[in-house]
Parts: sequence; C-alpha cells; structure tokens
Amino acid sequence: MRAVSFSAFGGPEVLEIIDAPVPEPGPGRIRIAVAAAGVNPYDWKLRRGLMGGEPPRRVGLEVAGHVDALGEGVTDVRVGDTVYGFAIGGGAADYTLSAHYARIPAGLDLITAAGLPVALETAFRVLDLVGIGAEGSAGQTLLIHGASGAVGQSAVQIARARGARVIGTGSVANHGRLEALGAEPVAYGEGLLGRVREMTDGRGVDAAVDAAGGGVLGDLVALTGDPARVVTIADFDGAGDHGVTASGQNSAFYGLTAVAELLDRRAYRPPAVEVHPLAEVATAQARSEAGHLGAVKLVLSLD
Ligand SMILES: NC(=O)c1ccc[n+]([C@@H]2O[C@H](COP(=O)([O-])OP(=O)(O)OC[C@H]3O[C@@H](n4cnc5c(N)ncnc54)[C@H](OP(=O)(O)O)[C@@H]3O)[C@@H](O)[C@H]2O)c1
Repeated sequence: MRAVSFSAFGGPEVLEIIDAPVPEPGPGRIRIAVAAAGVNPYDWKLRRGLMGGEPPRRVGLEVAGHVDALGEGVTDVRVGDTVYGFAIGGGAADYTLSAHYARIPAGLDLITAAGLPVALETAFRVLDLVGIGAEGSAGQTLLIHGASGAVGQSAVQIARARGARVIGTGSVANHGRLEALGAEPVAYGEGLLGRVREMTDGRGVDAAVDAAGGGVLGDLVALTGDPARVVTIADFDGAGDHGVTASGQNSAFYGLTAVAELLDRRAYRPPAVEVHPLAEVATAQARSEAGHLGAVKLVLSLD
C-alpha cells in the first residue's frame, strides 16, 4: 500500500510516497481503507522536527474511509461501515489502524469527514477545559484566537451551541465566514487587547482559547483576568510564562459522535475542503505551513 513518510527532518521535499505493508489491527483496533486523510499543522511541525521523535516517520493524523478489518473485541462497527477517526501510525496511506473512531454522521461525505476528527476532538476538549458548557456558563463571552482556522471554526460553533457569545480573531478576509458561524470577528495583531475591550464595553471576556499562537497569552489573561480560564493549543512555551494550561493530549473523542446532534439541527457547518490527491502531499503540507488558508480545510484524497 501507499504511505507518506520522511526519513530526514526538513521541508516538504523530504516527503516520500513509499510502499508499506498493510497493517494488522490488534485488540480494540480497526483497520480503515482510507478514502481521504486530513492535513494538519501537526504534520509539517512533525516533519520539521518540532514535535520530537526521530525519522523515519509517517504522517497523517485523521482519516475517513471504510472499516476493512476488526481487531479482537471490536463490536461497535462492522466491516464496510463508513467511519472517521484518528489514525495510528500515519493516516496518509491506503490503510491505517484506529482505536478512536465513529460512524460518519448523516450528511457528511467522506472527504469532508476526513478533515474533522482533529478539529472536533480539540474543540470539544478546549471548551470543556475553559468551562464553556459547564453549568451556569450560558451567556458567557468567549474569545477564540484563530477562530478562522479548522479548530477555531469548530470551537466557534460548539461554543455558540453551548450558549456563549463568541468573539473570534481571523484575517479580515475571513470575517464574513466568522459572522456566518455566529462569531463576532476581530482582527488579530497589534491592538487586539483594546479592540476586544471596546467590543465588550471594557469588561473583557469570561474565557479565552488560543488556537493560533503568536504570543497573545498575556492579552488573553488580561482580558479574562484569570489564567485558569485561558487554554492554549498552540503556544506551549508561552503557557508556562503566563500560568495558562497548554493542552495537547487527545481526550474528547466523544466529539466525533456529539457533533451529530449539532449537524441535525444545523448548528454545525464543516469548513469547505481543499482536496489534493495523495501525490500532492508536499504541496498540501506547504500550504498548511504557509498559513492563511482562507478558512478551508486541506484534505488528501486516496483515490
Ligand atoms: N495541542 C493540540 O491538541 C492541537 C490540536 C489541533 C491543532 N493544534 C494547533 O492549533 C493551531 C491551529 O490549528 P488549525 O488546524 O486550526 O490550523 P489552521 O486551520 O491553519 O488555522 C490557523 C489559524 O491561525 C490564524 N493565524 C495565522 N497566522 C496568524 C498570525 N500571525 N497571528 C494570529 N493568527 C494567525 C489563522 O487565521 P487566518 O487564516 O484568518 O489568517 C487561522 O485562524 C496549530 O498551531 C496547530 O498545530 C493543536
């Protein structure tokens, strides 16, 4: 089968499509015949050597496809079901293993679904961590830095569904998309603190999520007045300096099924996808690394 690998850290040119053995699912795991795999900033960070580990490494965190084989003890899906979830050992491949997956909710095609597991899990996780959705949190104001990104767009919509007022940063070109999702857009960069204070009549916000990095944690702590109500997924160095939680451990897998109810009542709209064939994995990763994707999600097609 085809798989994407790199044998030295570096730029997109180190990526190779290799011939690899089809993996066998152990207990509690399934094998997925991959239809499409999402591209995440993690993929290029791994390739640059920023996430630790040693090459050779495979890439691809999330996939959608058909269940192809069941490991011992798996009873929640059958061979042939369409599922999406987290890949073990590299999802940008014809087949991958998964221990965290769900049936694809009605209304989502395979390509769109492939780009959602990371964003959904992360968004549900960070909102839980900052207390948006906790008892009594309805009506609170949440600031999402990086609201126009894949994680940000999911977090905006889930937070709105949980009753929050959401202010979201993004490039001006993406402000229309943010408004359509129910957020009040604001430009990032110099003066963010003042702009958000103005939008909140000087009160600041109740909670904040940093899904973009770039050194805003001081501002987010100032706006919430409490580092315990700020979480970052993109600035692990800054988190220590500001007493803020940095979250990197996947845990909110329930998001893969919880989104179904939001989709049913049209409270969740996935981002538009930009699809590349597997052969263009280097181009897709370079796009992710360059940033400013125009609010689209990058997906590799395994056709
Ligand atoms: N720790 C975890 O568990 C975890 C999980 C998932 C993702 N992440 C991290 O979270 C971040 C977002 O991931 P994603 O998939 O949502 O990425 P993405 O779709 O590429 O979105 C990136 C976001 O960052 C914004 N941005 C780009 N340059 C910026 C700048 N100079 N200043 C402020 N904002 C800027 C973008 O805004 P515009 O496009 O509007 O300019 C966009 O909102 C990445 O760093 C990723 O590695 C961490």
